[in-house]
Amino acid sequence: MKALIASGGRGTRLRPITHTQNKHLIAIANKPILHYAIEAACNAGIKEIGIVHNSDSQEVPNTIGDGSRWGVSITYIPQINPGGLAQVVLLAEKFIGNDNFIFYLGDNLVVGGVKKYVDEFTKSNFNCWLTLSKVKDPQRFGVPEIKDGKIISIEEKPINPKSGYAVAGIYIYDKNIFTACKALKPSARGELEISDAHQWLIENNFAVGFSEITGWWKDTGKPTDLLEANRLVLDNLIPSNNGTIEKTANVAGKVIIEEGAIIKDSVVRGPVIIGKNCLIEGSYIGPFTAIGNNTTIKNSEVEYSIILRDCKIINVGIRIEGSILGNDVEVVEANGKPRVHRFMIGDQSRVEIS
Ligand code: DAU
Repeated sequence: MKALIASGGRGTRLRPITHTQNKHLIAIANKPILHYAIEAACNAGIKEIGIVHNSDSQEVPNTIGDGSRWGVSITYIPQINPGGLAQVVLLAEKFIGNDNFIFYLGDNLVVGGVKKYVDEFTKSNFNCWLTLSKVKDPQRFGVPEIKDGKIISIEEKPINPKSGYAVAGIYIYDKNIFTACKALKPSARGELEISDAHQWLIENNFAVGFSEITGWWKDTGKPTDLLEANRLVLDNLIPSNNGTIEKTANVAGKVIIEEGAIIKDSVVRGPVIIGKNCLIEGSYIGPFTAIGNNTTIKNSEVEYSIILRDCKIINVGIRIEGSILGNDVEVVEANGKPRVHRFMIGDQSRVEIS
């Protein structure tokens, strides 16, 4: 069994963060999203991983490396244009060879890993194994139609979904998926759709099985998904303190404080992670907040937010909530009179003020 991870695409719904950073490298609970996919493959006992990435950027290979830190080998497969997930599969045909493989969308997160799905597939005679999750908005996903415990059809982003399930971005295949992908024509949005490949397998009498993901699963396509994934991951972390909590600080709940971080005159209510060399002073850090390395927060309040590395939040009068700050962002009090808001904001940003 090998693993194929998709990390291409343009991440347009996560702009402006994705103007300067591949979306799969955005940190959830201070760890790049892609690490979760790699770790899931490792925990399923997989040793060879292929990662498809945008050919015009070496950001993913340079950041992730050759896999040795996880004890696996990673092969990078460039994709010139994001032509769809079935194209991603076809690009990996040589890497996969005759092996079975798990196809993991690099922007998906699932608690509890994928070993149980790999094991179910391995002991079965199925050609394709899908994972399904109940969702409120199936229109955003591939949606199965299920009859008598079997998937009888799959549609990509249907206007009238035939069930309340999404096909999650964790699929297991044998080599017949390549035949299916080669038979496809681009969809209305110009992509070779993985859902069409699944539909082809069903129509051509290949065995398509499924498991329901009963824990949580998240596709991190939108900013609100990132915050929600951050909340879920933080909720499952084990607290630790490798920094300094001064006597004047009140830290409660599940909190991870990394090396060199200092908390003083502040209240921290977990689940929270505070990265290396952060300074939190005179502030309130509320539940479900991740603060990246080298960030300073003074005389401010932050809750349910993702603050990436090297940020400064100083003397901000109103609580920052439900927010995502990119790397190296400053939110500070404007000095002097008149009292003003002064902005220096990149393209496609969003600011809400009151
Ligand atoms: O998350 C589950 C959903 O993922 C499924 O329910 C859908 O059936 C499936 O089509 C897919 O839908 P999305 O609209 O979420 O796909 P997205 O374009 O966001 O791409 C998913 C991942 O694959 C993301 O990490 C980017 C990467 N990708 C995407 C394309 C189109 C590539 O690496 N190359 C590509 O050509």
